Amino acid sequence: MTPLDDSAGLALHGITVRFGGLTALEGVSLRVPPGQVVGVIGPNGAGKTTLFNVVCGLVRPTGGTIALDGAPLAPRPHRLARLGIARTLQGVGLFKGMTVLENVMTGAGHTARAGFLAGLLALPRGDRDERRLREEALALLDRFGVAGHANALPGTLPYAVGKRVALARALAARPRLLLLDEPAGGLGAQDIEELAEVITSLPGDGGCAVMLVEHHVDLVMRVCGRIVVLDFGRLLAEGTPDEIRDDPAVAEAYLGAAVEEGAQA
Ligand SMILES: Nc1ncnc2c1ncn2[C@@H]1O[C@H](COP(=O)(O)OP(=O)(O)O)[C@@H](O)[C@H]1O
Ligand SMILES: [Mg+2]
Repeated sequence: MTPLDDSAGLALHGITVRFGGLTALEGVSLRVPPGQVVGVIGPNGAGKTTLFNVVCGLVRPTGGTIALDGAPLAPRPHRLARLGIARTLQGVGLFKGMTVLENVMTGAGHTARAGFLAGLLALPRGDRDERRLREEALALLDRFGVAGHANALPGTLPYAVGKRVALARALAARPRLLLLDEPAGGLGAQDIEELAEVITSLPGDGGCAVMLVEHHVDLVMRVCGRIVVLDFGRLLAEGTPDEIRDDPAVAEAYLGAAVEEGAQA
């Protein structure tokens, strides 16, 4: 890892993904520096989920490079935690057989023990480790306003609560990079308000870099320092929320998509 500031965080260069004859991403480059929330938006089919999947190792790019803190990165889903990457998925995705507190403790598992798998499997660990994990997990739940649900099973939680628990679990791993896939999906207006506050507070956590892939443009405008706009797999625009809001090409891409969706409805 190079200690140079401009290589810190996530750097994607020239990412191209083809699914058979379809080009889902074409030469996309972007950076997510530590301590920043970078939003990725774009109309349906623009390539947002594909980009997210590339960074989590679920999709292997046809071309391009990925680096984290200046070192080349070949993400694989089962190695993410070890690489310092945490993510939340569309939906909730908690372990059903564990309490909320245990779910969040599992998130921190690999920091407490040498092996990530050992953490996942909850092998016996020292009492002190256990107590520290428990306290940290409770503090995270408390910070997200869901500590009252610590002993509940995920299946019994309201959707918005489950989403916050999932976020707490992701942060418990103390990631260098946090990936959020459509965190506002399925949430009501009030829940989105509260989510905005939580996301705004995220980069404070040890300068974690946050990449937010989100359909909900208003949320992205509010919580992101920089925004990347994809359209038909290409990078259409990149800038501050104000720059993106005033960009005619962005408005046109969304308008075109809206007209098409309206025509299909
Ligand atoms: N596994 C896949 N196989 C084939 N085509 C795919 C696959 N995943 C996504 N696509 C296509 O790639 C394009 C980008 O999709 P996606 O990344 O899901 O866009 P978004 O998340 O912005 O709506 C779309 O045309 C979609 O149909
Ligand atoms: Mg998507």
